[in-house]
Amino acid sequence: MDRTTNTVLSLPSKHSARSHFEKERERLVTDIIQNLNSALKEIDQLNKNFESAIAMGDQFDRIAELWREFGTIIAPPDLCQNDDPANSGDDTFEIEGSVDVVDPPTVEKYRPVYLEDVVGNEEAVMRLTVMAKEGNMPNLILTGAPGIGKTTSILCLARALLGSAYKEAVLELNASDDRGIDVVRNKIKMFAQKKVTLPSGRHKIIILDEADSMTPGAQQALRRIMEIYSNTTRFALACNISSKIIEPIQSRCAILRFGKIEDAQILRRLIEICREEKVQYNPEGLQAVLFSSDGDMRQAINNLQSTWSGFGYINPENVYKICDQPHPAIISAMLECCQRAEVSKALDCVVGLWHQGYSAIDIITTMFRVVKGHERLSNDTKLDYIREIGFTHMKIVDGMQTLVQLSGLVARLCKVTMSASDFEF
Ligand SMILES: Nc1ncnc2c1ncn2[C@@H]1O[C@H](COP(=O)(O)OP(=O)(O)OP(=O)(O)O)[C@@H](O)[C@H]1O
Ligand SMILES: [Mg+2]
Repeated sequence: MDRTTNTVLSLPSKHSARSHFEKERERLVTDIIQNLNSALKEIDQLNKNFESAIAMGDQFDRIAELWREFGTIIAPPDLCQNDDPANSGDDTFEIEGSVDVVDPPTVEKYRPVYLEDVVGNEEAVMRLTVMAKEGNMPNLILTGAPGIGKTTSILCLARALLGSAYKEAVLELNASDDRGIDVVRNKIKMFAQKKVTLPSGRHKIIILDEADSMTPGAQQALRRIMEIYSNTTRFALACNISSKIIEPIQSRCAILRFGKIEDAQILRRLIEICREEKVQYNPEGLQAVLFSSDGDMRQAINNLQSTWSGFGYINPENVYKICDQPHPAIISAMLECCQRAEVSKALDCVVGLWHQGYSAIDIITTMFRVVKGHERLSNDTKLDYIREIGFTHMKIVDGMQTLVQLSGLVARLCKVTMSASDFEF
C-alpha cells in the first residue's frame, strides 16, 4: 500500500479540524474558570484565616492587659510549655487573684481614651492637645499627686499622635518592669534604634511611668540616648516627685505639672459614673466620697465602687465605714468644743476615735482637712489651729504616734480661743 496516499487520507477535513480546535478552546476556558473559582475560594479562606488571626491577636492583647491588671495568667498548654498533666487538654485560662474578669474595675472602665475626656488640669491638657494636633511632641515630664490623670494623659497623647501605629511605636515601662541601667542600655536603646514607618513628623514614644522610682544610675544612662535618638524617638516621663528626676533629664524635657482635681469636677465625673452604673446615692454620700478622696480622682472612683459593692447605697455612713477614715462630723464637733474651750468634751471625742482604732496620722490629717473647710471658724482661728496641727503632725510623722500628742494638741487648740480671764481662779 502507498504510504503517502494513506497519510493524506487520514488527514482530518478543514471542518472537523476547526470543530476540534473549538472544543479544545472550550475545554481550556472551562478549566481556567474552574481554576479561577477554586483560587477565589482559597483567597476567601485565606481572608477568613487572616481575620481570625487578627481576632486572636486582639484576644492576646486583651489577655496581656488583663495580666497587667489582675495578676498571673496560667496560659493553656498549647500556648506555652506546660508539664502539668492536670492541665492538659484544658483550653480555658485560669486567672489567679481575679474574681470577676469580665467586669474591669470602675477606674479602668472609666479611664479616658481621648484627651478631651481628661477632667481638670485644663492648662496642661490644652498643651498636650496642641502637641497632639501639631504632631511634634517634645520630651515630657508629667508630675503631680497620685490619681489625677498623668498616665492617662500620656496614653491619650500617644494614641492621638500614633493612631494605629500605637502598638508598634510605643514602649511603655512602669515601676513593675525592671528599669535598671541594663534595661536602659538594652531594651530602651534597642527600641530607640528600631525602624518603624510612621507618618511624617511623628516619633516613636517611650513612656517611663513612675519615673521617680528609677535609680539615678539608670536615669544617667538615659541622658545621651535621649539626645542621640531625638530624631526618631521621644520620651514621656510621669512621676509624683519631680525632684527625684535628675537635673540633666529635667533640662531635656518640658515639665507639665498636674494639680489635684477640683471637687466640682470630680463630682461631675462621679455623677456620670453613677448614672451609667445605676448607682444609688444621696448628695451627702457623694460629698463624703469627695472629702475622703481629697482631689484624687482614682481614690474617689474606687471609694464609690467599694461603697456601692459593699453596701449598695452611697451615703456618708457607708462611705466612711468603707474608707476607714474618722467621720468628719465627729472631728467638726470636737473643734467646736475646742472653740468653746470645753476641754473634757473635746478630749472625749479624740479618745473615742482613738479607741475605735484610728491612728494618730488618720486623726490629724482629717483634722487638718476639716479645719481648712470649716465654715463656722473665723480665719484667725483657722490660722492658729492649722499652725498647731502642723507642729503636732511633724511630731507624729517623726514617730510620736501617741494619744498624749493628740491630747496635747486638743489642749492647745482650746487655749487658742481662751482669754487671760479664763485662767484666773
Ligand atoms: N483627670 C482625670 N480625668 C478622668 N479620670 C481620671 C483622671 N485622673 C484619674 N482618673 C481616673 O483614675 C485612674 C487613674 O489615673 P492615672 O493612672 O492617670 O493616675 P496617675 O496620675 O498616673 O497616678 P499615679 O501617680 O498614681 O500613677 C484612671 O483610670 C481614671 O479612671
Ligand atoms: Mg500613673
